[in-house]
Amino acid sequence: MGASTDSKLLRNSSADDRYDGPPDYRCVGRHAVFPDTSHDEIERFNFLAQMNRHLSTKVMPAVKAAFETRIEPKQSQPFRHRNDVRKALLSDPCFQTWSALRRMTMEQRQQAGRWVALRQNHELAGKVDALTRNDPRLELDPEVKVPRYVSAVDHHCMPGSYHHEDFPGDVSGAANYDSGLFVTTGGMLGRYTDGGGRAVVNWVRRNLPGFAPRQIVDLGVTLGHNALPIAEAFPKATVTGIDVGTPMLRYGLARAKALRIDNIRFVQADVSDLSMIKDGSVDWVQTTMFLHELSYASMEQIFRETYRILAPGGIVLHVEQPQYADTMPLFEQAMRDWDAFYNNEPFWSTLHELDLDDILCRAGFARNKLIHDGVTAVVDRDIFPDAAEDTSEDYGRKAAWHVIGARK
Ligand SMILES: C[S@@+](CC[C@H](N)C(=O)[O-])C[C@H]1O[C@@H](n2cnc3c(N)ncnc32)[C@H](O)[C@@H]1O
Repeated sequence: MGASTDSKLLRNSSADDRYDGPPDYRCVGRHAVFPDTSHDEIERFNFLAQMNRHLSTKVMPAVKAAFETRIEPKQSQPFRHRNDVRKALLSDPCFQTWSALRRMTMEQRQQAGRWVALRQNHELAGKVDALTRNDPRLELDPEVKVPRYVSAVDHHCMPGSYHHEDFPGDVSGAANYDSGLFVTTGGMLGRYTDGGGRAVVNWVRRNLPGFAPRQIVDLGVTLGHNALPIAEAFPKATVTGIDVGTPMLRYGLARAKALRIDNIRFVQADVSDLSMIKDGSVDWVQTTMFLHELSYASMEQIFRETYRILAPGGIVLHVEQPQYADTMPLFEQAMRDWDAFYNNEPFWSTLHELDLDDILCRAGFARNKLIHDGVTAVVDRDIFPDAAEDTSEDYGRKAAWHVIGARK
């Protein structure tokens, strides 16, 4: 093949083909307990973030085309359910390639983050301990039982999920989560992975002008990525972040202090029992990407507890990926369901087909006080792509969510 033909084949760049990949990992927001990363570790993260972006912008459209041109036309009857679409996709080489690569990037992302965290686990534990010891804003309770629906699963291929400790005081699970989330999301959540929380703050300011919460509770707070922007935006409020995962809570308070956000506490509890919080004493209950990891039985109970602790006029906002409404094409539903089958998210399917309005109303909220809206991540636009303008679709990871909630 001559040089000119070669360069034609290789020349894949037109004005429309400008780099639209994730930003370099070096722009990630660091803080006093963020793990150190070597050159090679950074490049591993960069490769995986770019692979994720490539899969959603370049490979996913090919899966959709394969469905429309190869799979759907072969059907004698139209598909009736997303499971039929999913099963039909399984034998298509395009879907197989995308699915295998997506799973591979999840596993490698976890390995990359674990490697970074494990090689400095004692040092990180020491730093976190120095920042949190005797601080009343960290309330750990060794009696709290991690519910089986949490402990039985390594969520999204994350070894040890949110609660495992290799030794007392270990925070390597949290350090892995913090350092690698940038990769899974292709940088779409911003420098501090807080684009969801910042979007919620904007939503509240726009829709509830004058709302001045004093007590805010974030259920399933993990290490506080999305609770911190809320605490920062409402400095007169106290934010109570609740979770079962000890390493996340420890690391969360240390991170908040390192970032100089002081009006947040981290409390260990199973949120299906919030009896330590008085009836009607909370102005705002927030959950962000939390509901899809709950069992159905616990969700009903958590919604009832939420209603009980809210003050009249208080709000609950759940930020989640959209429900599988009848108007959502079956192909999209099947692709969104991928996480349930291949990414250790066993409750993903059930959550997305539930009628959350009904559950909110059964918990006590009035139907005419329900809230439905959408938000997209608010990020540092100088370095991060804006999710609102991002036309790619990866069916599940895009930084655009539904807000489902209610006012009491
Ligand atoms: C996907 S993460 C939530 C992410 C987090 N809200 C954020 O914005 O970064 C789910 C979290 O819920 C916690 N969780 C699940 N069930 C819980 C329960 N019953 N009580 C307390 N925490 C729970 C897990 O430990 C985990 O940290």
